[in-house]
Amino acid sequence: KRAQESSDYEQMELAAKFFAHQLRQHSNSATVIDYLKGRGLSGEIVKQFQIGYAPDGWDGLLSSLGKDQRSKDQLVDLKLVNRNDQGRYYDFFRDRVMFPIRDRRGRVVGFGGRILEGDGPKYLNSPETRIFHKGRELYGFYEARQANRELQQVVIVEGYMDVVALAQAGISYAVASLGTATTTDQLHMLFRATRRVVCCYDGDRAGRDAAWRALENALPLLNDGIELSFLFLPDGEDPDTLVRKEGAAAFTGRLNQAQSFTDYFFAHLTETIDVQSDAGKSLLLKQAKPLIERVASEFYRDTLMERLARLLRRETSQLAGQIKAPTAAKA
Ligand code: CTP
Ligand code: MN
Ligand code: MN
Ligand code: MN
Ligand code: MN
Repeated sequence: KRAQESSDYEQMELAAKFFAHQLRQHSNSATVIDYLKGRGLSGEIVKQFQIGYAPDGWDGLLSSLGKDQRSKDQLVDLKLVNRNDQGRYYDFFRDRVMFPIRDRRGRVVGFGGRILEGDGPKYLNSPETRIFHKGRELYGFYEARQANRELQQVVIVEGYMDVVALAQAGISYAVASLGTATTTDQLHMLFRATRRVVCCYDGDRAGRDAAWRALENALPLLNDGIELSFLFLPDGEDPDTLVRKEGAAAFTGRLNQAQSFTDYFFAHLTETIDVQSDAGKSLLLKQAKPLIERVASEFYRDTLMERLARLLRRETSQLAGQIKAPTAAKA
């Protein structure tokens, strides 16, 4: 199994090199480079993230890396190549800008591929394989650790281009949770590397939903000293569009003003609740209680309880017996 894994990583690295090479020498190269330039990316940043191009034929990667049956089968296992019902092999990624996804040790475990124009899904991502488990990887984490001796903070964003555009602007500490909700595993990985995490998703419905889900997934990780906050962007903006519009200084200004975990917690819960009424108060208690009970740190649980008591116009001591500590072992 060890031997197979190391050969898988080698094959993925070769694929990344193949795509990077195509970006320089394929006949579509000029178009793709124009696209990347149009999105504000320099050659240097393209190199740093090893951004590449998957050619528009059906067998570019296949004929380069799938020379024998064994390597063809391996490419299929790694989801870089598909096999159709007639037993024919063809490239999974075609005519796309390629973003290699590295694990925290720097090994390529998957790819995201963006369409240049035309029909089809905007992004194609590597499906799960024996070396790629989406909810456990963070795009840009390895690159962020390479760029910073110590990570003072990390910004979690939604997309590949958000990570790369922020790095282009000099904000080299962003990671993306690969289009899914940010998982507890991903947050755990981050909190082992830094104490300060800012969630900054797109300024749209999906982005706001993602923020609340991240908050829920972070509760068991909120130990003493951990700082989690939320930056909500103007409608229609994402970190990429905003940092290009406003510049890095304005964006870091926003990061420093991000809403604290506690403020967002109650702002969200009271959004649709009238806390002046008894019905609203009881509902708030009912919704907040199970969430507060999942918080790891006693200090943070107390802080949230005090805020809750104030909103309910009760003494904290009146609520004290109501909140239990998490029953499971602490993270
Ligand atoms: N995503 C995906 N598949 C899609 C759309 C999105 O996997 N069809 C994931 C990608 O990781 C993408 C992220 O969700 O980067 C955020 O989606 P979205 O905001 O729609 O895309 P952007 O990253 O803003 O893409 P771009 O700026 O390149 O248009
Ligand atoms: Mn898995
Ligand atoms: Mn979006
Ligand atoms: Mn976006
Ligand atoms: Mn975008």
